[in-house]
Amino acid sequence: RYEAVIFDLDGVIADTAKFHYEAWKKIAEELGIYFDEKINESLKGVSRMESLEILLKQSEKEYSQEQKNYFASKKNDYFKSMIQKITPGDILPGSIELIKILKRYNVKLAVASASRNANTVLENLGIKSEFDYIVDAAKIVNVKPDPEIFLAAAENLGVEPKKCVGIEDSVAGIEAIKRAGMFAIGIGDPTILKKADMVLEDLRYTQKIVKLVIGE
Ligand code: G6P
Ligand code: MG
Repeated sequence: RYEAVIFDLDGVIADTAKFHYEAWKKIAEELGIYFDEKINESLKGVSRMESLEILLKQSEKEYSQEQKNYFASKKNDYFKSMIQKITPGDILPGSIELIKILKRYNVKLAVASASRNANTVLENLGIKSEFDYIVDAAKIVNVKPDPEIFLAAAENLGVEPKKCVGIEDSVAGIEAIKRAGMFAIGIGDPTILKKADMVLEDLRYTQKIVKLVIGE
């Protein structure tokens, strides 16, 4: 039996991965650099500045730190205006049911998102109070694939990492969960999330997850 489930947010609980993608696409267009869904896979789970660095690899130009700060903050402005309108309708299918069942079994729940907008997203979705702990991304020094954010969640829940299940839609996130010594559930494509212990299309596979966690 596992004692805690640590969720990523964008692309796992919230249908917001598409907004990050759209916002980066706008920046790429403005910079006149190539961007596609495949490059976007490597941005998932990665911090804002690091995402920009990955994006800029497609460009031959050199950008100053000041320019980088400008584009990172512009991307965040786009993203923030997109999430302003999100409502409980933007919760990905299966999430609520899964959260409710896990709570009934006294499984501790946390959110480990690299996003500095995580609190706003959770508030707008109306589910912030469902979680025992939400990691503050601003306090995390080493970003995913480093295990730090998942280890911080486990520590705050008071649960040993090996008693935790992590759920992620990104390659960097799955690696972070594995390096933290936890069971990793991938949400998405098994050919992309190769290091996950189990890959599901979405959280509608509630029973499968509950069975794994409860150990029945
Ligand atoms: C999550 C998303 C990434 C995003 C990162 C930082 O990990 O998957 O796409 O870049 O958070 O988000 P932020 O809202 O702080 O720019
Ligand atoms: Mg994600």
